Amino acid sequence: MSDQASKLRNLLEERAETEALARQIGELYFDVPEDTRVIAITSGKGGVGKTNLAVNLAVGLQLAGQKVMLIDADIGMANVNLLMGSVTNRSLIDLLEDGVELEDVVEEGAAGVKYISGVAGVEAALNLNRLEQKRLHRKLSRCAEMANIIIIDTGAGLNRNVIEFVLAAEEVLLITTPEPTALADAYAVVKAYSTYTDRRNIKLVVNRIREEEECYEVAEKINQTTKKFLGVTVGCLGYIYEDKAVLKAVHKQEPFLIAKPDSLASRCISELVKSLLSGEKMASVSGGWRVFLDRLFGY
Ligand SMILES: Nc1ncnc2c1ncn2[C@@H]1O[C@H](COP(=O)(O)OP(=O)(O)O)[C@@H](O)[C@H]1O
Ligand SMILES: [Mg+2]
Repeated sequence: MSDQASKLRNLLEERAETEALARQIGELYFDVPEDTRVIAITSGKGGVGKTNLAVNLAVGLQLAGQKVMLIDADIGMANVNLLMGSVTNRSLIDLLEDGVELEDVVEEGAAGVKYISGVAGVEAALNLNRLEQKRLHRKLSRCAEMANIIIIDTGAGLNRNVIEFVLAAEEVLLITTPEPTALADAYAVVKAYSTYTDRRNIKLVVNRIREEEECYEVAEKINQTTKKFLGVTVGCLGYIYEDKAVLKAVHKQEPFLIAKPDSLASRCISELVKSLLSGEKMASVSGGWRVFLDRLFGY
């Protein structure tokens, strides 16, 4: 074959490949809106209030007229469903099965918040092969049709599963308590995060404070360290008071915002909802759920 003919053939093959790829991507993203807000909730230390924040914020945003979906991505310690007060048989991981579609794993909880339960009792990191990733990616992409805000309850700390969800999200809420150990672990998260990305989209939420001052002190302490060692500052979205209503609601397996809407903690959630809806988005770039999934699955 002449040189020119083989060049032409290569060119045509290349184009066919590109077109096939474009078709695949087109199918994958058909109808995925780009303006869905993705907010990951994470912490350095465990047990500082991630799930309570995730659930109550989801309920608060829903009550404020948003369409919210909550995804429990705390692999191993999943417990969103407990606070949503319903029994679920399906979880995120079931999406890997043939024939299980998004509708099969999405439940409706308090205030009509849609949620997907997590995978409890799993030790190992979730190592998905390429095919499983693709399957999950395809099925999850339709979450954006069901919600305009997607909240992700991640695990604590620095393991790979957590970092991946946090890095993929457009906006990140880093929750901490005023305890020195929690602060140190929160700093470690900011540090790890800043080695992976330049995006400045983390905001602090200080939980279990006894007086408002404590929130500013915590934010200042963390920022002194991040400024000095990382050259970054982390803004503060708000705080939640230490409140017995939280534990009481946990026992009732209800979000405290529903169980005790006039409690101090509930009023703090309302303020956080206001800040999230009225303030600027934390992220400078937006791409919604689609970009989140792309980042998560490494496209
Ligand atoms: N603002 C608060 N006031 C009182 N207790 C709280 C508060 N936030 C969290 N707690 C307590 O901490 C426990 C752990 O909270 P949880 O949201 O499950 O943390 P995480 O998801 O980070 O592990 C709750 O069950 C509750 O007893
Ligand atoms: Mg939790």
